Amino acid sequence: MSLKIENLHAGIPGREILKGLTLEVKPGEVHAIMGPNGSGKSTLSKVLAGHEEYAVTEGRVMLDDINLLEIAVDARSRAGLFLAFQYPFEIPGVSNANFIRAALQARLPKGEDLDAVAFYKRMYARMDELEMSRSFTARSVNEGFSGGEKKRNEILQMMMLEPKYAVLDETDSGLDIDALRIVSKGVNAMRSPERGLLVITHYQRLLDYIKPDVVHVMVDGRIVRSGGPELALVLEEKGYDWAKEKLANAA
Ligand SMILES: Nc1ncnc2c1ncn2[C@@H]1O[C@H](COP(=O)(O)OP(=O)(O)OP(=O)(O)O)[C@@H](O)[C@H]1O
Ligand SMILES: [Mg+2]
Repeated sequence: MSLKIENLHAGIPGREILKGLTLEVKPGEVHAIMGPNGSGKSTLSKVLAGHEEYAVTEGRVMLDDINLLEIAVDARSRAGLFLAFQYPFEIPGVSNANFIRAALQARLPKGEDLDAVAFYKRMYARMDELEMSRSFTARSVNEGFSGGEKKRNEILQMMMLEPKYAVLDETDSGLDIDALRIVSKGVNAMRSPERGLLVITHYQRLLDYIKPDVVHVMVDGRIVRSGGPELALVLEEKGYDWAKEKLANAA
């Protein structure tokens, strides 16, 4: 059981962006990916989401025993994968509460209805944990939200959907100091022996709050180094050129 990305090659027409990415996150683990701008981190989350702009040319992604790339895009979320994007999308005309409700309803067996009272009770409890105003339930998903509010809202969705695996792309960027602490608390509350988390970040600071088991450095579409939490500190000190050296040596 794991989220296993094996030798993934993907890109846009005329350009390969992911060049043989291999990574395995097991339930109970938190992995962090760090890497320079443009190394392909967000492309990875978009490929996992099945974004139409990207084509996979080689490799596979196994979500437990399901080959993720072979199932429909909407089935991926139901299979237990949650993706928080660097730039969360807006859904005008769909309230936040209805969006989450519909996603949960879609996970129930046919003919079974979500208990509305229990749903709102649970959502309000999660919103309180994230210190989100109730007004966000009725607003259209992410529409007019500030950058930090969108990030917080992504975590609310994750807490409500309780996915088996989650990929969080720069959930910390744009958060003020208090929001960083609150959002990290939310993420930490989601840590569980049954759940694997992959956190993409530029800042070692986040990893003080969310202690990863493994840190990966991604350069030019592949993982060039992996290690324990101390790798983030070394990276902060030595920079990506140091990380790239290994890639150059291997070439
Ligand atoms: N749809 C696209 N069309 C053209 N180029 C793209 C597209 N998607 C990604 N790229 C290019 O692929 C590279 C990787 O982009 P990606 O967004 O994955 O980087 P990243 O590692 O997430 O960077 P950052 O740290 O800045 O968020 C970049 O050079 C980007 O310009
Ligand atoms: Mg990115």
